[in-house]
Amino acid sequence: MKANPGGQIDIKAVVGRDRLIENLWETIEQQSLIITAERRIGKTTVIKKMRDEPAAGWMPVFQDLEHCHSAAEFAMAVYKEIHHFLGRKDRFTRRAKEWFLAIGGTEIGGLFKLPEKAGAHWKDVLTRSIEDLIHEDDDSGTKLLFLWDEMPFMLANIRDNEGEPTAMQVLDLLRALRQTHTALRMVITGSIGLHHVLASLKEKNYGNAPVNDMAAIDVPPLNEPDAVHLAKLLIEGENLTSPDKETVAEVIAREADHFPFYIHHIVKALKIRGLDATAENVVGVVASQLVDPNDPWELLHYRERIPIYYRGDQNAVCLILDELAGRPGTASVNKLLKMLKGASTFDDRERLLHLLAMMERDHYLKRDDGGRYHFRFPLIRRWWRVSRGL
Ligand SMILES: Nc1ncnc2c1ncn2[C@@H]1O[C@H](COP(=O)(O)OP(=O)(O)O)[C@@H](O)[C@H]1O
Ligand SMILES: [Mg+2]
Repeated sequence: MKANPGGQIDIKAVVGRDRLIENLWETIEQQSLIITAERRIGKTTVIKKMRDEPAAGWMPVFQDLEHCHSAAEFAMAVYKEIHHFLGRKDRFTRRAKEWFLAIGGTEIGGLFKLPEKAGAHWKDVLTRSIEDLIHEDDDSGTKLLFLWDEMPFMLANIRDNEGEPTAMQVLDLLRALRQTHTALRMVITGSIGLHHVLASLKEKNYGNAPVNDMAAIDVPPLNEPDAVHLAKLLIEGENLTSPDKETVAEVIAREADHFPFYIHHIVKALKIRGLDATAENVVGVVASQLVDPNDPWELLHYRERIPIYYRGDQNAVCLILDELAGRPGTASVNKLLKMLKGASTFDDRERLLHLLAMMERDHYLKRDDGGRYHFRFPLIRRWWRVSRGL
């Protein structure tokens, strides 16, 4: 297997994740899902594998919503996908198509376009498209599963371009569809936390709980055997000379914190630099990649998103991370509060508890059994220390 960090990987090149995916299919029998996880941990890879190897009785439709900037674009993307889907089966999205043409929509060379003023019809286009596909499969009993990648990003785009009410309406409509159709499920995932988008809507008095019927499931890094296995496959695939593949693969897995993305990066860097796969070279490559100004591991976002995610509290968040990165061990809430009081004007225990809870949800921190905080990922802690000159 060739190292391909961040690229489209072939389904056969997906290592591990079988147990997780089994759990996901089991949960989907009961309810829709929000898949949460840190960026680059392998969420898209997981849902693409689900698309390519669906459980019996399910018809998955995968869509990357990154490029949808309005509710109408979203509705059109779903319409097109379903049109394409049924087209393959020599069928047609009858109701949606009728409606689409009736409101003045056009199709030129496979490109669908809603007329300007019909943007307001997005709810009908979306509802009818989805219902068409559900009805199409009434007789077979197959259930429809949308795998929607980057949905929170799309919602943030809609919020910023069309305002909070439209973003809320999208969420409300999807919820209504989930409640109406027992043979419909949605899996939502993406690189921004949905909770941040929901929090910004809540600030505008959107009191509904549009996703409280969905289960949240976390994608962790690979387990150790799978991480080692991936490292070994990549060493072999890249034809790297190694004195002891097994041991070096273990070192790679450990240095990468079992993130498949970083494992790919380490092997790729060894290959590009013409280095043998030795433990020493692996350690050297990681040390240099962590300070590489080009940020190949895309770690800068852990810092850059803080002002956006934590607006007024960015200083406190950075101080907390500095404190936890700068010294070994864990820290209690009281200890962190004392530190903040000493280093800034922050003096609000309730606010701190809220911040810590958010930092846990955003995968910066974790609590031990005694409720004391530490970095969730040792590698991120290491990077934070290096990048902040601690
Ligand atoms: N199970 C896996 N096996 C092998 N490589 C993986 C796996 N999951 C992720 N990767 C690698 O990590 C990269 C990022 O994964 P991706 O699914 O795009 O992450 P996310 O969607 O969480 O940001 C992929 O391009 C691939 O190189
Ligand atoms: Mg992704």
